Amino acid sequence: MQQQLVQLVAAATQEASGVSTRAEMEAFKARVVGPNGSLTQVMKGLATLSKEDRPVVGKLINEAKKAVEELLATLQVKIEESEIAGALGAPLDSTLPSPDAPAGSLHPLSRTREKILSTLRKLGFTVAEGPEVETEWHCFDALNTPADHPARDMQDTLYLPKSFRSADAPRKGEEAILLRTHTSSVQVRTMLSRKPPFRIVAPGRCFRRDAVDATHSANFHQVEGLWIDRNVTLADLRGVLDFFVKETFGPEAEIRLRPSFFPFTEPSFEMDLRSPNLGRLSNRWLEIMGCGLVDPKVLELCGLDPNEWSGLAFGLGLERIAMLVHGIDDIRLFYNNDTRFLRQFA
Ligand code: PHE
Repeated sequence: MQQQLVQLVAAATQEASGVSTRAEMEAFKARVVGPNGSLTQVMKGLATLSKEDRPVVGKLINEAKKAVEELLATLQVKIEESEIAGALGAPLDSTLPSPDAPAGSLHPLSRTREKILSTLRKLGFTVAEGPEVETEWHCFDALNTPADHPARDMQDTLYLPKSFRSADAPRKGEEAILLRTHTSSVQVRTMLSRKPPFRIVAPGRCFRRDAVDATHSANFHQVEGLWIDRNVTLADLRGVLDFFVKETFGPEAEIRLRPSFFPFTEPSFEMDLRSPNLGRLSNRWLEIMGCGLVDPKVLELCGLDPNEWSGLAFGLGLERIAMLVHGIDDIRLFYNNDTRFLRQFA
């Protein structure tokens, strides 16, 4: 029997060397270890042996089985490699570098933000940031919007328990803490902490108690500009906005300032945009931002002397600009993370 096993392994080794396809390997496997395979036959013979011989022969059978399993494992690797090589049309070279991982890309909102910031940088604006969790004073009171002011209704937001105080929100008594409704709070922080003259632009996330639909989101982004200097005028405001709009929407774009009201600017305007390159919105006046000259009361509240300093301010919604630039008609697309949508801006 020992002799028989040695022969069996030798024959199997010989046979394995001629196997080159998956089908041949399966057939070979069946001939040796299948229900009627040569090794299976020998194993069945074990029952006919004497009690004394059984352990000895059993051990030999196990060794033969192991040898056959190794043959099969080697064949498996060889066949997989040749299948890959066949698919590639060349032999497999495992030392080659792996193909590059697919590249990611900037989110359309990030792209739009970067474009806006780089435009304003050309006019000497630098980026300023502030906390999203803000004090009521920085978000409203310092912007000339006291607790009973109707403008607060339009900017209703979430008020947080005291334990949610942001790290750098000053602990002014029992002051309420909220999610900021605009990045104008960064203007307040900048006026309090820096000496004019300066020009800053504050990009960031804002929150409002808005019902979500195609053009509203309770969580959105703003970019606000503030320029404090001596003798800042409406001509400066117009100049900045005109430059911004032409850089963003093309040289044919025009602006129009329409009188409006904000508690923190005086006079205040809505800025409308008209451009021939906006698809179905071409050549129509579209409202895209609020702006004005900083109200002297705000300068005073932020520690600046209104007789010496003046300023201009403007604020726009990042989503609105990105939607106009790219012809996107539903704000929710920005937040769904659907790569079929996002890939279009790569
Ligand atoms: N903060 C205003 C808003 O969110 C926009 C604005 C900014 C208006 C600056 C005027 C000046 O609606």
